[in-house]
Amino acid sequence: IDIKRFQQDLISWYEDHKRDLPWRQNQDPYRVWVSEVMLQQTKVDTVIPYYNRFMQQFPTPQKLAEADEEDVMKAWEGLGYYSRVRNLQSAVREVVADYGGEVPSSKKAFSSLKGVGPYTAGAVLSIAYEKPEPAVDGNVMRVFSRILLSREDIGKAKTRKKFESLLPAFLNDAKPSQFNQAVMELGALVCTPTSPGCLLCPVQYHCMARAEGVQEELPVKEKK
Ligand code: ADE
Repeated sequence: IDIKRFQQDLISWYEDHKRDLPWRQNQDPYRVWVSEVMLQQTKVDTVIPYYNRFMQQFPTPQKLAEADEEDVMKAWEGLGYYSRVRNLQSAVREVVADYGGEVPSSKKAFSSLKGVGPYTAGAVLSIAYEKPEPAVDGNVMRVFSRILLSREDIGKAKTRKKFESLLPAFLNDAKPSQFNQAVMELGALVCTPTSPGCLLCPVQYHCMARAEGVQEELPVKEKK
């Protein structure tokens, strides 16, 4: 794969097709962080109204840190997976107590906060701080399983680690915020689970699965 051309084709498509989503208004790290936590187990369309209300109610780390836990839970009601928001409030309290309310921009510091795993760290550090960190979730593994024609089981931790080690080469010299969001957008709009829309895909000429005609067989996900 010619990585330079791949980046150009992907990012110029993203610029033309990206959805106007509320967390894309700016690169405020707290706003990005809240969006990534909400989006982890919940679909974009469901998240949008919750996100807008949450940001109105708790617009800054300080406001979320000092809020009553009950009010925070209430704002999350309906999104489910409530440990996400409990961890988020604990982490934001750490940010206020230990970092003066500034979301830390180092991987080590940010990753040590409550509930922040490799995906959240990669997403926030790349989207808000332009760090060349991969943000590997199921969508990203699906897209890259096809591009690289990988038949490794995306349900396995080892496969995620493999993608995390391969992706920095793709992020290198691209704008990390745009690159990662472009991959997410491609996974959401074109390279979907049931029907890879290869004819509309901006990177179809770089895709190894498409070249072999096996895009429908990928990704491999063994039943547990
Ligand atoms: N899914 C996870 N993160 C996302 C983002 N920043 N934009 C759209 N979909 C996402």
